[in-house]
Amino acid sequence: MQIFPRWTNKLPALIAIAVALGGPGLIFVIWYYFSPRHTDVGYQPKQPVPYSHKLHAGDLGIDCRYCHVGVEKSAIAMVPPTQACMNCHSQVKKESAALAPIRQSWEDGSPIEWVRIHKVPDYAFFDHSAHLAAGVGCSSCHGRVDQMVKMRQDQPLSMGWCLDCHRNPLPHLRPKDKVTQMDWVLRSPEEVRNDPRVNANVNPPQNCTGCHR
Ligand code: HEC
Ligand code: HEC
Ligand code: HEC
Ligand code: HEC
Ligand code: HEC
Repeated sequence: MQIFPRWTNKLPALIAIAVALGGPGLIFVIWYYFSPRHTDVGYQPKQPVPYSHKLHAGDLGIDCRYCHVGVEKSAIAMVPPTQACMNCHSQVKKESAALAPIRQSWEDGSPIEWVRIHKVPDYAFFDHSAHLAAGVGCSSCHGRVDQMVKMRQDQPLSMGWCLDCHRNPLPHLRPKDKVTQMDWVLRSPEEVRNDPRVNANVNPPQNCTGCHR
């Protein structure tokens, strides 16, 4: 079924480096490529402020697009500027030690250095807006963000992963106004086809140049 099982993604680079480095290199390469840090699922770096999606997006119910304003219009979703936090935190939890870096950033204009978590290599093209316009929800690719006290990568973002969905996208489609609903349950292709709110005539690229432009 699968033309590209997930593990083959790394194969060419693996072989090239292993040959160049010999024995000890091979061990290094296997450790490096197969350790969670490189496959990236579960990657959860320390952030400058202990911001919780569970509290803000889950308990308080703030919509994803309040902070990730770029997500429907552009390739990137964008992490919010300090202003977005100060809309509330100039009033709420004004004395909180956890929020000291936010107040500092607000006073001197220096941006908060959030550590980037999700990243596809530059040679692969990805665009948020195309996926959201087709009705693919955030949770298909980022998991239950509303339950994450600390943000982590939920999916591998590998080529095999992209293609798994591109070959069989229908279960991932939903009405466009539901893309940020976190507890949406995926449906069968038949159910999706019979839902008049969904455009089931999508055609995600499976050819190489669709993603490697
Ligand atoms: C109140 C603002 C706010 C809201 C609402 C919010 N986020 Fe975030 N989001 C952030 C901040 C700040 C970061 C960077 C810190 C972090 O990673 O925890 C972030 C990071 C992320 C990242 C990781 C970015 C990276 O570096 O790869 C994803 C994915 C994400 N948010 C998805 C969502 C989703 C999905 C929702 C809605 C369920 C949501 N966010 C709601 C502020 C917000
Ligand atoms: C819509 C309002 C709103 C926005 C926007 C908002 N927050 Fe909050 N935040 C809250 C509320 C409400 C609490 C919980 C206060 C409480 O526990 O009583 C909170 C709590 C926090 C806490 C825990 C503070 C403590 O001492 O317990 C942190 C850290 C935090 N927010 C960071 C952020 C960051 C960073 C941003 C911007 C990306 C942000 N918040 C945006 C409303 C908001
Ligand atoms: C089809 C899968 C998919 C969907 C749907 C999706 N994302 Fe992403 N997201 C990704 C990938 C892949 C990356 C890494 C992109 C890159 O490196 O350019 C990413 C990166 C991010 C980032 C960090 C980098 C950036 O673009 O600013 C944030 C924040 C984010 N997503 C939020 C969201 C939110 C919020 C939603 C829903 C409104 C969403 N994503 C829907 C796959 C997805
Ligand atoms: C959960 C399903 C899903 C996942 C995962 C997914 N896609 Fe897609 N992709 C789609 C759908 C649906 C479309 C829309 C096709 C249409 O509108 O006809 C699409 C369209 C695209 C397009 C064409 C639109 C454009 O922006 O030019 C590209 C390129 C693309 N995806 C790249 C990727 C890459 C790269 C990844 C992995 C990092 C990925 N996708 C992961 C479902 C997915
Ligand atoms: C749906 C999008 C998509 C399509 C279609 C696609 N690729 Fe990829 N490809 C990716 C992504 C994303 C990566 C990066 C994977 C990672 O970071 O692990 C990648 C990585 C690669 C790599 C590097 C592997 C490595 O060692 O990491 C090669 C080579 C490659 N693709 C070739 C191809 C060829 C040949 C085709 C056509 C048969 C193709 N790709 C079709 C998304 C795609």
